[in-house]
Amino acid sequence: MSVLQSWPVEREFDPKNMPFRRLGPSGLRVPVFSLGGWLTLGGTIKGDPVKEIMKVAFENGINMFDTAEAYAGGKSEEEMRLILNYRGRVIRELGLRRTDLVITTKIFWGPRHGPNDQGLSRKHIIEGTQESLARLGLDYVDVIFAHRHDQNVSMEEIVRAFNYVIEKGWALYWGTSEWTAREIEEAHHVANKLNLIAPVAEQCKHHMFHRDRPEKEYGPLYKKYHMGTTTWSSLAGGLLTGKYNDGIPKDSRFDTHSNFLKEDLKRYESPEGKEQIRKVKELTKLAEEKLSTSVATLALAWVAKNTNTSTVILGATKPEQILENLKAIDVIPKLTPEIMREIEEILANAPDAAPTFGRPLLDRFGRV
Ligand SMILES: NC(=O)c1ccc[n+]([C@@H]2O[C@H](COP(=O)([O-])OP(=O)(O)OC[C@H]3O[C@@H](n4cnc5c(N)ncnc54)[C@H](OP(=O)(O)O)[C@@H]3O)[C@@H](O)[C@H]2O)c1
Repeated sequence: MSVLQSWPVEREFDPKNMPFRRLGPSGLRVPVFSLGGWLTLGGTIKGDPVKEIMKVAFENGINMFDTAEAYAGGKSEEEMRLILNYRGRVIRELGLRRTDLVITTKIFWGPRHGPNDQGLSRKHIIEGTQESLARLGLDYVDVIFAHRHDQNVSMEEIVRAFNYVIEKGWALYWGTSEWTAREIEEAHHVANKLNLIAPVAEQCKHHMFHRDRPEKEYGPLYKKYHMGTTTWSSLAGGLLTGKYNDGIPKDSRFDTHSNFLKEDLKRYESPEGKEQIRKVKELTKLAEEKLSTSVATLALAWVAKNTNTSTVILGATKPEQILENLKAIDVIPKLTPEIMREIEEILANAPDAAPTFGRPLLDRFGRV
């Protein structure tokens, strides 16, 4: 691993008013809002616009960027390389310092489809990581995530392989993504038994309409392991911006990715989807009338306010979306208990509390 760089640093990182939190039990500090590349960077957005989006993010306090070997078949990592790689053109243009950046990638769906190009075998974790680093043009990433759990590989093999990746200096920490609480628990047991490094964070979907797993199922993991979360789709792909209230606007995600997101589109047309739109309209009223903000910033601030959230990964197709979404930083302190109660009344989907069997409630999900 090398943090030495041969290019001149032209842009010092200025966190502006970005709050930082530790990533779970680790000492790594991550910005409360980071930026990811799924469907966007390297997908629908290529070349200079990628640079522009990442530049605006960096200049406004976002120094953490998330990608995956799967995103756009590896093209997302390649596009980011333009920003990050000293051999690429953009690092010359932006002059970013590697140590200022927190870069995360994910392994599971390799860009090819051979029998060992996918999943979490030791072979694919090690080879996939090396290929990701080559595409990114980096010596190491800060955090590497297992993009899903692999039922066909023993937990010991998975934990040992991620530890090998860390020992080699290719990643500094590892985490999971969309694993069940039971699987994460098993990873901790195996790591503990073998005196190995356990995952520090879970990259999970968390938004106002998707709450059970991050808020309830993972409850014991926050308490026992101080697990952090890097949340994704916290705007429900854009639904929580209100842009889908009256149909699907041209060039929006549900328009440009209508084939890939067929299932989401079906849900959007269903009674459940219509009910969600009704709630988005009510939340919009609350955001505008009580907080003088947009429903998008309210939705993002709501996830960020959760004390188990380490970072909310934003997605953006335009620099303006980043600027708008970062206004959420100022909304977080405005989410008083009273406002949170009003939000709960509108959402009416808080996960059930753990049963107390007649004893007084300590905490809804067993957290202290
Ligand atoms: N680990 C995993 O399995 C997993 C899965 C998914 C995502 N992720 C990570 O999480 C990141 C974020 O996920 P996501 O992109 O689904 O997040 P999201 O915030 O729910 O959706 C982002 C999309 O919403 C639209 N948007 C954003 N801000 C807006 C605004 N202010 N006004 C109007 N539209 C706006 C943009 O799409 P349009 O302009 O095209 O409408 C943007 O690309 C990903 O990039 C990835 O790094 C991880």
